[in-house]
Amino acid sequence: WPRTSSRNDGALTVGGVDVRDLARDHGTPLYVLDEDDVRSRMRDYATAFAGSEVHYAGKAFLCKEMVRWLEAEGLGLDVASAGELAVALSVGFPAERITMHGNNKSVAELTRALEAGVGHIVVDSFDEIARLGYLAEQHGKRPKVMIRVTTGVEAHTHEFIATAHDDQKFGLSLNTGAAAEAVRRILALPQLELVGLHSHIGSQIVDTAGFEVAARRLTTLLVQIKDEHGVVLPELDLGGGYGIAYVEGDEAPDIKELADGLREIVSKVCKDAGLPVPRLTVEPGRTIVGPGGITLYEVGTIKDVEGLRTYVSVDGGMSDNVRTALYGAEYTAALASRASQAEPMLSRLVGKHCESGDIIVRDFYLPADLAPGDLLAVAATGAYCRSLASNYNYLPRPAVVAVSGGVSRVIVQGETEDDLLRGQL
Ligand code: LLP
Repeated sequence: WPRTSSRNDGALTVGGVDVRDLARDHGTPLYVLDEDDVRSRMRDYATAFAGSEVHYAGKAFLCKEMVRWLEAEGLGLDVASAGELAVALSVGFPAERITMHGNNKSVAELTRALEAGVGHIVVDSFDEIARLGYLAEQHGKRPKVMIRVTTGVEAHTHEFIATAHDDQKFGLSLNTGAAAEAVRRILALPQLELVGLHSHIGSQIVDTAGFEVAARRLTTLLVQIKDEHGVVLPELDLGGGYGIAYVEGDEAPDIKELADGLREIVSKVCKDAGLPVPRLTVEPGRTIVGPGGITLYEVGTIKDVEGLRTYVSVDGGMSDNVRTALYGAEYTAALASRASQAEPMLSRLVGKHCESGDIIVRDFYLPADLAPGDLLAVAATGAYCRSLASNYNYLPRPAVVAVSGGVSRVIVQGETEDDLLRGQL
């Protein structure tokens, strides 16, 4: 639950605001973001990684207000599309603090990044190296580039969010020699300034050993590049992917320990090889915005399937949180609008979509006196819920409100029926 959440006369409050007031003022479903929680995590990262760069991964959740918080807290930003870049630029975020990612950036996206003057472009394929070299020449720019390296680390997480084994679409492999070949090709292009290597091994990873293996392998490649080309690359970007606690008993890495561990490995390998220690960047997404978000729903129907469990249907579902359906993700949910002493009943929290896989929480307990109209809160939905939301079944995407100091304010408006019909001829 968010850092500022508590129970006030039985009802959940976040940021000093009672969830019943939130539901009354903004409707449900509703994404609620605890501003103090999110900003304090930004500061925790800035402190733990002092002297390094922290670039928030915008794909986890991005909107104008989020960009303003990042700027105020001194973080950088990763974008993975022209759309994410446009959000950042729309509120004047400094382009040099932006890194552009993606395994298939279009000519238009690369051009936009060049024109805006983004700080780094992470190249992901030989096609892209050639394409970017050509575009840079056309636009009279010399972008700083990094190579996305596939380090061969087996990340222990869901298959769809593991990204450092060879048999997946991202990066240039260390094992096959593709990464070393990319170095050669970029160094041969005067239009591109190769400044470093990048690795992202996957997401929602709680065992930090994999990050350390990746860091060691990248650093070893830095040493090889110096030996082969006489070039010392000044930067290393170790990506994001650190896990958070979703349900009781989940472990989450300590950010300070992680920072110290990564720095130690990189320093050691570099010192042993007589290389200067490169400037480190990390790209956390989930750990910054995930824990501070909750989703509020209103209970609509309650169906007891005799002898099995009770299906509790709410007014949203896989359109506002697809993670359970997509990754088998686990969540914690609770009755939020009142206290209850009733017996626990085995429940499944489901949405209102036309799919039996439209599940938000698979198995958990709710009080047996639950009734339509009660509010439920699902914890840790700040990351990859709103950003993966859809309009399936023509449901409008819910509003996002920020809460702090007893005040709630809309930072992303909820969609209306007009929004749903816009653009249709
Ligand atoms: N850097 C790069 C290059 C990435 O691809 C990602 C995430 C991150 C940083 C941030 O990772 P984080 O710290 O948030 O784990 N939709 C999935 C997660 C996909 C992550 C994609 N890349 C989910 O809901 O679990």
